[in-house]
Amino acid sequence: TEGMDIDELAYQLAVGESEILRFLSVRGAMLDNVQTLDKDLVKMVCMEYEVEVLESDPVRVEEMAKKNEFLDVEDLDKLVARPPIVTIMGHVDHGKTTLLDYIRKSKVVASEAGGITQGIGAYQVLVPVDGNPQACVFLDTPGHEAFGAMRARGAKVTDICIIVVAADDGVRPQTNEAIAHAKAAGVPIIIAINKVDKEGANPERVMQELSQIGLMPEMWGGDTPMIQISALKGENVDELLETVMLVAELQELKANPDRNAKGTVIEACLDKAKGPLATLVVQNGTLNKGDILVCGEAFGKIRAMYDDRGSLVDQAGPSNAVQIIGLNNVPLAGDEFESVDDLDVARERANTRADAMRIERINAKAGEGKVTLSSIA
Ligand code: GTP
Ligand code: MG
Repeated sequence: TEGMDIDELAYQLAVGESEILRFLSVRGAMLDNVQTLDKDLVKMVCMEYEVEVLESDPVRVEEMAKKNEFLDVEDLDKLVARPPIVTIMGHVDHGKTTLLDYIRKSKVVASEAGGITQGIGAYQVLVPVDGNPQACVFLDTPGHEAFGAMRARGAKVTDICIIVVAADDGVRPQTNEAIAHAKAAGVPIIIAINKVDKEGANPERVMQELSQIGLMPEMWGGDTPMIQISALKGENVDELLETVMLVAELQELKANPDRNAKGTVIEACLDKAKGPLATLVVQNGTLNKGDILVCGEAFGKIRAMYDDRGSLVDQAGPSNAVQIIGLNNVPLAGDEFESVDDLDVARERANTRADAMRIERINAKAGEGKVTLSSIA
């Protein structure tokens, strides 16, 4: 029953999608508008390219892939715990930035040695769990569009979603949208009922509204944690973070730090002095300065790597976010990256990817309305 998207297979085999389609159609496979190949077809294609399909313990692999689609079969015996990656979403003005700022100030800036925080769109904080500080990574998603685009490309970056709902305003259109995004991605939701310090705040009403759209508060016997906070005053934010870590623990998030890095681009831009800049979240393996990357349609060697405080770092392990320079081009938010052995391989893979994307765009145009975006497992 397990299959694979054609574009993914093309990417993995470093061949064009059209080549795969041609190969299959020659063998009589009916593939009109089909985007996903079943296991047998995948095997058939892989045999042609003399690539072995690994298939040990499908149940375990499937379970693992649900939690981290960047894991491979070879990682199974080397998994260690990784920090959760958390996204804050919600309606305009409901307090997302205020909450993130508070978390960063109370948990990050205090330990900063007079440095100015450089925004890379991701922040690592330490949350005490039973007295032990544990890492947690927050992503500052640049608006819903980017999140939607990332999701549509099948990128699953977030482990947990905090949805902020202002207690004086209630559930609004973007609240619904955020909930829909989180649900579609299969990411657990934690509700932060914010601005409880404000006059006119009515947390009960918010819980009522949420329960009507299928999110039943834990305190009413449901399974959605809802924490009443004031992001402005920092009230109950610790409790919110504790809940995040609790939910994370249940997810048993894991990765294999001892392999080449794989992950997702969360932000990228062109800097006049430094060239293309990309913020990457490592989702498996460890990224090193000097690594050679394929990054969507871009590639290059990492010349320098900065952490969330703008400090130069040499390494970034699972769940870490770093900004890198050294790519030949600006990748897109949501692009996947992987470190590879040499620059020629990287260039070839990036070019193959560019071709595949071009064909995909043409196909999408041709079959407007019929094409579905690559599925999220
Ligand atoms: P967008 O990024 O525009 O979608 O907004 P946002 O969700 O990031 O909201 P932001 O944090 O910018 O907060 C909007 C306004 O609400 C600001 O004036 C905040 O000071 C205020 N605010 C946020 N949290 C609280 C709170 O807990 N209590 C009160 N009283 N005001 C708050
Ligand atoms: Mg904001």
